[in-house]
Amino acid sequence: MIPGPGLAFGGDYNPEQWDEAVWKEDDELMRQARVNLVTVGVFSWALLEPEEGRYDFAWLDAHLDRLHANGVRVDLATPTASPPPWFTLAHPEAMPVGADGTRLTHGSRDTYCLASAAYRRAAVGIASALAERYADHPALVMWHLHNEYATVCYCEQSAAAFRVWLRARYGTLGALNDAWGTAFWSQRYGAWEQVMPPRATQWHHNPGHTLDFRRFWSDQALAAYREQRDAIRRHSGPQVPVTTNLMLPGYQVLDLWAFGREVDFVGIDHYMSAPGMDGDADTAFGADRARSFGGGKPWLLIEQGTNTVYAGDRTLPKDPGRILRSSIAHIARGSEGALFFQWRQSRAGAELWHSAMVPHTGPDTRIFREAAATGEAVARLAEVAGSTVSAEVAVLWDADAWWALDSQGMPSGDLDYHGTVMRAHRALWDAGVTTDFAHPEAADLARYRVVLAPSLYLVSDQGAATLRRYVEGGGTLLVQYFSGVVDARHQVRTGGYPGAFREVLGIRGEEFRPLAAGDEVELSDGSSGTVWSEALRAEGAQVVASYTTGTLAGEPAVTRHSFGAGTGWYVSTRLDDRAYAALIARVLAEAGAAPEVPGLPSGVEAVRRRAEDGRGWLFLLNHTAADQLVVPVAGVELLTGEPVPAGGLRVAAGGVAVVREG
Ligand code: GAL
Repeated sequence: MIPGPGLAFGGDYNPEQWDEAVWKEDDELMRQARVNLVTVGVFSWALLEPEEGRYDFAWLDAHLDRLHANGVRVDLATPTASPPPWFTLAHPEAMPVGADGTRLTHGSRDTYCLASAAYRRAAVGIASALAERYADHPALVMWHLHNEYATVCYCEQSAAAFRVWLRARYGTLGALNDAWGTAFWSQRYGAWEQVMPPRATQWHHNPGHTLDFRRFWSDQALAAYREQRDAIRRHSGPQVPVTTNLMLPGYQVLDLWAFGREVDFVGIDHYMSAPGMDGDADTAFGADRARSFGGGKPWLLIEQGTNTVYAGDRTLPKDPGRILRSSIAHIARGSEGALFFQWRQSRAGAELWHSAMVPHTGPDTRIFREAAATGEAVARLAEVAGSTVSAEVAVLWDADAWWALDSQGMPSGDLDYHGTVMRAHRALWDAGVTTDFAHPEAADLARYRVVLAPSLYLVSDQGAATLRRYVEGGGTLLVQYFSGVVDARHQVRTGGYPGAFREVLGIRGEEFRPLAAGDEVELSDGSSGTVWSEALRAEGAQVVASYTTGTLAGEPAVTRHSFGAGTGWYVSTRLDDRAYAALIARVLAEAGAAPEVPGLPSGVEAVRRRAEDGRGWLFLLNHTAADQLVVPVAGVELLTGEPVPAGGLRVAAGGVAVVREG
């Protein structure tokens, strides 16, 4: 489904920022860098439709023809993430309104409300016009709808659409009042019109209300996506896949499982969130998510930076070798290529300081040379296209659980859904185990030896039943503190924590005892915990470690329970790093989940892709500053074309190797 042959290499191409002399140089440099796919038109709405209903395609025709003549395929984007100023002025009601009631003005991008009828009409209009004109263009190999659906709006049109969504979900106002628990704080709604988006208010919002608004908004974004997709499909056949580029893992306004079902393949953007090895772990995290949301299908890295590592209020450069290593790290986990934002660094406009494949300084630079070398390496890996990655371990990820935990009034400000999930994935990454993400209601959990449930604060009845069946059937489930405590309406499962998992885990929690910032509890195995503790009783579970200090001294902290043919583990505090790693190692070992390559030097990452015909490729990424010898490996290394020597494969410091095994 993903445009081949081979793997894709290239980036966002914005030729409208340049002139003919530069286009000529672009053609030459793209050949040098082995660029074979570029994303065109992402922010071109004002040029393509200079006035409502009047289109100017001549310039885009010329670029598409030129790219095609140069052997470069085109990922044509719909420009709907940035409506032109004429649109804004004609439809002021389509501008987004913040929770505080401030309506935004144009002058940036993403100034639209997805619930606005005028915006939706205009977006479908430009998408249809593009599809009509370019559906049969020989350069076109994929459609890229919008850019990073992310804008949330609280305007009157959003309010009206929210009410329609609520009526469909609850049927009656009585059911809505019950679900949200509006008996408290005199919030009972007597008419649908009384329900608003969760705009700025005094004190806490109602958590059922905020959760539903986030679900509703994700559904709005998906509806907007579907509408454009369907408009495009009326002109463009199924041989040209349609997708969108999903935003960074830490930014969360979409139910990504739902998007994964609707796109022809998953596309993601990934900008490293930290330098050093944390950045490599973050890359694996983003890539494993992308693969998982697509149900294991191949997927595509649509954006990354050549020289951009986001670190708080600054962007750090990538170390030499990093462009190649990060690109291959994505491909190792299933990406069908590696694209960048953007091809040529802008000299003007909002992102003039964002890195690119061709920097301001031109091609005689480290960045361009490294980008071109990466293009060469990606070309050498063409044979892996279409192969996939499989995992024996999964981490549960659920937008509802995130959104629910992200409510006001939680017992501790240190309950961080994204951070806790990342930490679980990181511990598995450090252990060398390939990891998927899975939804708690997933029908196929039984294929995993181990499933981790970090911060699964909300779990639906169906999710609870699925996880119970999983353990009963022989699976190993590790549940972490403050999971399984509320249902899909955000109502507490009363009678003992963690309500959804008490039987499976053989425990009964009586009282949550969040810890003060900086406080620690000691455990009987010499480890320590922070953030959280619980007054817990074992009801069938074996106590693996107990608290030794404070009010809870002598009571269970970590438990293990045989349930049916499987095992349920519970950890009631945030274990220190070493103890967490040791617990995970024990859980993996008992369940027979092995690292991809046992005995690897620390800091070397290994992942396999496999083809349906049985061929396999081992990707090795050396994240350390020293050369590393990897011994248990045999086959041909594709980047050098050399067979692996009998004594093992030396992977250069910061370097990569890809071995066709066998
Ligand atoms: C992405 C966005 C791009 C560009 C990039 C900069 O999120 O899709 O258009 O802004 O960030 O890192």
